[in-house]
Amino acid sequence: MPQPTHQAFAMLCHELAHLGQNEAQSEAWHLLTNASEMSKTKLLTHWRDPIDVLTAKKLARLLKKRKAGQPLAYILGEWSFYGHPIAIHKGVLIPRPETELLVSVVDALLQKDMYLFELGVGSGAIPMALAMIQPITYEGWDVSKRAISNAHINLAPHTDSQIQIHHQSFFAKTANWRKKIAGKAPTLLISNPPYIPPQDIADLQSEVRNYEPKRALVGGHDGLSFYRRLCKAYLSEPHQNQRFMVLEAGIHQRPAIDALLSTYPRYTWTWHQDLEGIDRVVAVKPA
Ligand SMILES: C[S@@+](CC[C@H](N)C(=O)[O-])C[C@H]1O[C@@H](n2cnc3c(N)ncnc32)[C@H](O)[C@@H]1O
Repeated sequence: MPQPTHQAFAMLCHELAHLGQNEAQSEAWHLLTNASEMSKTKLLTHWRDPIDVLTAKKLARLLKKRKAGQPLAYILGEWSFYGHPIAIHKGVLIPRPETELLVSVVDALLQKDMYLFELGVGSGAIPMALAMIQPITYEGWDVSKRAISNAHINLAPHTDSQIQIHHQSFFAKTANWRKKIAGKAPTLLISNPPYIPPQDIADLQSEVRNYEPKRALVGGHDGLSFYRRLCKAYLSEPHQNQRFMVLEAGIHQRPAIDALLSTYPRYTWTWHQDLEGIDRVVAVKPA
């Protein structure tokens, strides 16, 4: 016999209590609205009514996956980024709140006719959020086929922007972005690159370690290989156009990135802190 909605909600909070009270309640709402396909408001107006059999079955399936440790975003197939809903496929990095800071930093740098390009499109979270602010001209690369098909879904509605994404390594000879940016001014390279040192993977939450793609996380032997390659490829060659770059960084990486950027004297840079006060995003500009 299906339970009343309020009892189903209380059961979910109890089952998810290990997450802490606030998180358990928030996840219980996500699971209940997803399983019932009803809004929170509608559920509250039916608070004492029994949930239907199909909803009860779906809820049980979702809860089982969550208790087995699957990330909520993969179970729901959607997430929220920069205040907008975004489709998230299994095996594609779940966009983090820190990356919303990167979007704000890019937004503040946007100029008319700026060509934006990105290493590591992932779910397409960054161009999606930017295209919600204003039409953009953007190209992105990712080595993950799943990420590219996920990004296509999230970027398809933005027909007023010029968006192209490529299933290819950013560093492949045929990626051709050097040619593409040669005649364009100004250009802005964006990346939330894989930046975790392999030895730190064991310290990550088990749901990150077990479900999120390693290729999206690990950044070479010290976590910094993408920064080195990006700086060398984009900042070192002589060029005429104004080049900007905004990168997300991991905790404790500022000193090493400062040392790296100081070898490119034609550029200056500013750090931006996330809500925990961690130096999270670096914006590089012509000096
Ligand atoms: C940390 S995730 C960022 C995803 C997305 N931009 C975000 O912020 O949610 C890094 C992404 O870089 C991609 N990647 C790794 N190596 C790459 C390469 N050589 N060229 C292009 N993309 C790469 C991964 O597949 C992954 O999707």
